Amino acid sequence: MRRILESFAIALILVLSACGGGEPPPQVVAPAPEVGARGNPAQDIDNLRRNVPITTEITPLPMATAENFDRRRGRAYPMQPPTIPHSIDGYQVDLNSNRCMLCHARSNAAQFQAPEISVTHYMDRDDQFLAEVSPRRYFCVQCHVVQTDAQPLVANGFRDIDEVLRSERAQ
Ligand code: HEC
Ligand code: HEC
Repeated sequence: MRRILESFAIALILVLSACGGGEPPPQVVAPAPEVGARGNPAQDIDNLRRNVPITTEITPLPMATAENFDRRRGRAYPMQPPTIPHSIDGYQVDLNSNRCMLCHARSNAAQFQAPEISVTHYMDRDDQFLAEVSPRRYFCVQCHVVQTDAQPLVANGFRDIDEVLRSERAQ
């Protein structure tokens, strides 16, 4: 019985706050904070919520737009799957067809001026080379993501291995 009363009270509070019963209007803070959240657990959540208290409803940022300028981004480490420098809206990848392979298969790459998938995409898990793209590399967007104009939600101090080595040698 107490449980029921409790959940009823919580539901009432939720309804009241949704109706804006005396609460300040929802606060909209657009840009993500610049300070890194590392080492400050309270801020870890705050950064994702753009420092809006958990009791206030937040207006989501507009959805990121896919970049479509064919400008490739650098890779942060040798085995990073390169990001996709073009839009992939409507490209179907399923059991019967793989739109990506229309341009990225070895046989078509030259015609479309697309980089062909590398040898690793033809290898099975025993490192044997197959004639066609390996099943474990078939669903391209499992590893490759489209480039967008989204800003990082949380600042970070990532440096790639070349920068790390360079700064170590400089010392
Ligand atoms: C109509 C042809 C076409 C289709 C279909 C296509 N691509 Fe591409 N893709 C290209 C071209 C051309 C480039 C090279 C862009 C450039 O010149 O910078 C490219 C570049 C890429 C790159 C960057 C490679 C690198 O070395 O940086 C990735 C990754 C990629 N595509 C993945 C995909 C995936 C995944 C799909 C399916 C969802 C796909 N592509 C479908 C034509 C295509
Ligand atoms: C399991 C993860 C994975 C899947 C699935 C995958 N890739 Fe990759 N891809 C990679 C990695 C890692 C690299 C970079 C290292 C390498 O070449 O193996 C890469 C590299 C590439 C490159 C650049 C090749 C080059 O020589 O620079 C292209 C283009 C590409 N992938 C396209 C595709 C397409 C198209 C598909 C779907 C048919 C696909 N990938 C599926 C992980 C994946």
